[in-house]
Amino acid sequence: MKQRKWFWPVLAALVLTAVAALAAEMNMGAPNLVIPAGNKGDVSFPHGTHQTVLEDCNTCHSLFPQEPGSIVSLKAAGTLRKMQVMKVCQGCHKEMTQAGKKTGPVSCNDCHQ
Ligand code: HEC
Ligand code: HEC
Ligand code: HEC
Repeated sequence: MKQRKWFWPVLAALVLTAVAALAAEMNMGAPNLVIPAGNKGDVSFPHGTHQTVLEDCNTCHSLFPQEPGSIVSLKAAGTLRKMQVMKVCQGCHKEMTQAGKKTGPVSCNDCHQ
């Protein structure tokens, strides 16, 4: 079958418009968050920086939904263990530090204030 010349450019433009619309609709959440950690002290978390650097939301959100306060609620409900999210944060920072890459803190008091 003979394709018309305009078919692929038009399709590409439609797909790009749809992707842009989706991105605009996506709720990114606050660029800077504070994660409570009981007596250990709050953790300041640059959410926006991580979204830019990591791209995949599920690196973190496979553990808890994209809602404010979800970590605290799930910990209270016993669905998340204490320090379960922290292990993901610290684990990634450790691996990247060992690989000599720019990353976040690995020692307790650099996160807990
Ligand atoms: C490195 C970990 C990480 C990544 C990656 C990440 N988030 Fe989050 N996100 C969090 C944490 C931590 C919270 C705070 C949860 C809480 O308050 O208990 C959060 C909260 C949120 C919230 C709740 C609103 C708010 O402002 O508190 C939204 C919406 C959200 N994230 C969207 C996203 C989207 C969309 C992506 C991907 C583009 C993403 N997140 C990637 C860790 C991450
Ligand atoms: C990369 C940042 C980061 C580092 C480094 C870190 N933590 Fe955490 N920690 C967190 C976050 C975020 C939470 C809250 C989420 C959770 O419980 O998984 C937390 C939670 C905790 C909790 C549970 C508090 C509660 O009552 O629920 C304890 C205890 C704790 N951390 C101790 C430590 C100790 C000890 C170290 C050093 C060996 C450490 N943390 C290093 C980010 C970090
Ligand atoms: C999969 C890897 C990965 C995970 C998971 C991750 N981080 Fe990071 N983090 C990074 C990288 C990469 C940077 C450096 C970003 C940059 O400035 O380029 C960073 C930077 C940081 C910084 C320092 C920002 C600054 O301005 O110096 C903090 C604080 C931090 N992360 C906290 C956390 C906490 C808390 C969590 C868990 C909720 C977390 N990170 C999860 C990769 C990760």
